[in-house]
Amino acid sequence: MPQCVCVCVCVCVCVCVCVCVCVCVCVCVCVCVCVCVCVCVCVCVCFKGADIKEFGNVSHLESGPHLVEIFESVEALAKPVVAAIEGFALGGGLELALACHYRFGHSEARVGLPEVSLGLLPGAGGSQRLPRLLGVRAALDMIVTGRHVAAGEALKLGLLDRLTDGNTVDAAVRFAQSAEGKPLDDRRLGNRPCPPLENIDAFFEEALIHARGRARGAAAPLACVQAVRGAATLPFLKGMELEKRLMETLMTSGQAQASRYCFFTERGAARWTTPTGARWDTCRARPISTAAVIGLGTMGRGITVALARAGLSVVAVETQEHQLDEAQRAVSRMLKGGGGVSYSADLQAAAGADLVVEAVFEDMAVKEEIFKQLSSVCKPGALLATNTSSLDIDRLASCTLRPEQVLGLHFFAPAHVMRLLEVVSGPRTSPQTVAAAMQLGRRMGKVSVAVGNCPGFVGNRMLKPYLEQAYFLLEEGASPELVDAALEEFGFPMGVFKMSDLSGLDIGWRVRKEEGLTGPGVTADQPMRTRRGRRYSPLGDLMCEEGRYGQKTGRGWYLYDRPGARVARSDPWLRSFLEEYRERHGLLARRIDQQEVLERCLYALINEGFRVLEDGVAASPQNIDAIYVFGYGWPKHRGGPMFYAAQVGLARVLEGLEKYHKAHPDSPHLQPCSLLRRLVASGSPPIHKWSEVVKGHRSQL
Ligand code: NAI
Repeated sequence: MPQCVCVCVCVCVCVCVCVCVCVCVCVCVCVCVCVCVCVCVCVCVCFKGADIKEFGNVSHLESGPHLVEIFESVEALAKPVVAAIEGFALGGGLELALACHYRFGHSEARVGLPEVSLGLLPGAGGSQRLPRLLGVRAALDMIVTGRHVAAGEALKLGLLDRLTDGNTVDAAVRFAQSAEGKPLDDRRLGNRPCPPLENIDAFFEEALIHARGRARGAAAPLACVQAVRGAATLPFLKGMELEKRLMETLMTSGQAQASRYCFFTERGAARWTTPTGARWDTCRARPISTAAVIGLGTMGRGITVALARAGLSVVAVETQEHQLDEAQRAVSRMLKGGGGVSYSADLQAAAGADLVVEAVFEDMAVKEEIFKQLSSVCKPGALLATNTSSLDIDRLASCTLRPEQVLGLHFFAPAHVMRLLEVVSGPRTSPQTVAAAMQLGRRMGKVSVAVGNCPGFVGNRMLKPYLEQAYFLLEEGASPELVDAALEEFGFPMGVFKMSDLSGLDIGWRVRKEEGLTGPGVTADQPMRTRRGRRYSPLGDLMCEEGRYGQKTGRGWYLYDRPGARVARSDPWLRSFLEEYRERHGLLARRIDQQEVLERCLYALINEGFRVLEDGVAASPQNIDAIYVFGYGWPKHRGGPMFYAAQVGLARVLEGLEKYHKAHPDSPHLQPCSLLRRLVASGSPPIHKWSEVVKGHRSQL
């Protein structure tokens, strides 16, 4: 619980003389105002927003005053206490309301217990009172998902007793006056048993499996289920003890620390600073109200939807007639109507746009041609962005007469759903251009991270060594199932091979072809596994040559019932394919355990993260972590790759990399980066102090 609990008692004069107790508590994430009124005793409680930094401090659990006790006193009051909720009542705010005898809400109010998203559970009685009020099913859903519930739904669930459109406090006061003298025993949730539930053991077993599946390896959802089970099976006070024990464990766990860290990295990403120290949000950015999207394939469609939902008027341009028709239908479906989008087959339609986002094939020549045309077609102030996932922004800028207005806007698929946006600035991109893009990202509800220009930028650049190690592990004896299981156990929603099947193996194949890594010169002898003096696995290329592109062809690293199907099944063909491959190349399959999978894949990725910092392509380790959590499914309860490295211990990561590099000297991604060495040499400072060691490097931002 937060330390900043202040209780002030004052006397004020109403119709009669009454005592007003005012408790100001900094508890929950969002601002919430909750006023409780009773006839003579007026309890006024203001929740001003979380001091989440304080959450890791266990001394809260030892020192008073405790919210639990305060709430128990409220519940025990002999006078009726009515919670009047306006705005948000989240976390501690709702827990207080649950300790009141009645709950009134404004029709615009929202309530919820979002602690789980911070790696915690509702630890001030919420896990025990809510099930007693709503029943186990509805309460468990709210607690395990942490979702915000609108007032209308809260009324239906029985969480609110009444809704008002007017002044909630006035309504609550009137009601409190009318309720004076009525028995309150039944209104005290602590006195009530949970509504009965059939097959309780089976229900909670299933709930645990479900919670495990939602966030693999995360402790908080499981603790939430256990606490609610306590509410359903134990007397209130015993349940409260269980809640406290579970809360203490979570509070001190690395997972809650990681989740809190994520909370701050998300906000921190928005405070990008230029090398001269200027903050993007202090740069003068041209307002963007109209946009053009060029290319309406997978990405262009999602980008059109994201821009239209942010209130921009969008013109969508596509040269292929059938694609244009199909895209129009798909976008309208997603927007549930027109939504300010017009369509054209002519690039001239982009002439009036404030911003153009190009999303055509990943082909430099095609993109260069488009940027040349855009440079003459678009109005002078217009920003020209590319959604390329790896190509050189500066080369595209060179095709225009306005290089300072050219940037990368790297959306992630599906672009209208995924939170991450990498805002890529080339060496000539102006801070004003980046500022405008960051502002737009905020309007779209994205976590926008400013990054520098290099192949793959930050996210895809770090993904490359991760994928590479996964391929190497297959060569050495692992199966896709083994590798995926280790990564999913770690917390990724999907292992690397399932992810490749989903996004399509052909995408990487095309990139490798463009890089000259694959092609007719490659034969089935030893050099096939070496490129430019480094170890190379052609496994992905061979799969594509077999037409195994993943889900889209119904076959990839796994087998699918039909093209486009999602359920991955093991494929006996792949087993013999790998065996033959190893035999052909004289590779001896060895036993590989999950720890090696994790260390090889994750340490290689982390190592590249240190290189990214060293190269000045990301402004901070926190920004890298935001990219991985919001764009690549890195589990929130593990903070992000750089946070994870700090948590594991930098010396241990270094040692692991040294060990694996010694065993695989032809794999340069396993060679520890000099920044990592220097950090370890300077005593492995905490993550927020890494910048002091990075200092002196050239920033590309
Ligand atoms: P896609 O192949 O689905 O769509 C490309 C579209 O561009 C096609 O509809 C094509 O007809 C159209 N097009 C080609 N030349 C054109 C021109 N001159 N004018 C207008 N339209 C033209 O490709 P996808 O997957 O949407 O990728 C687009 C870009 O986004 C690529 O640069 C890719 O690297 C990048 N990207 C892709 C991601 C993905 O997961 N698919 C993720 C992030 C970025």
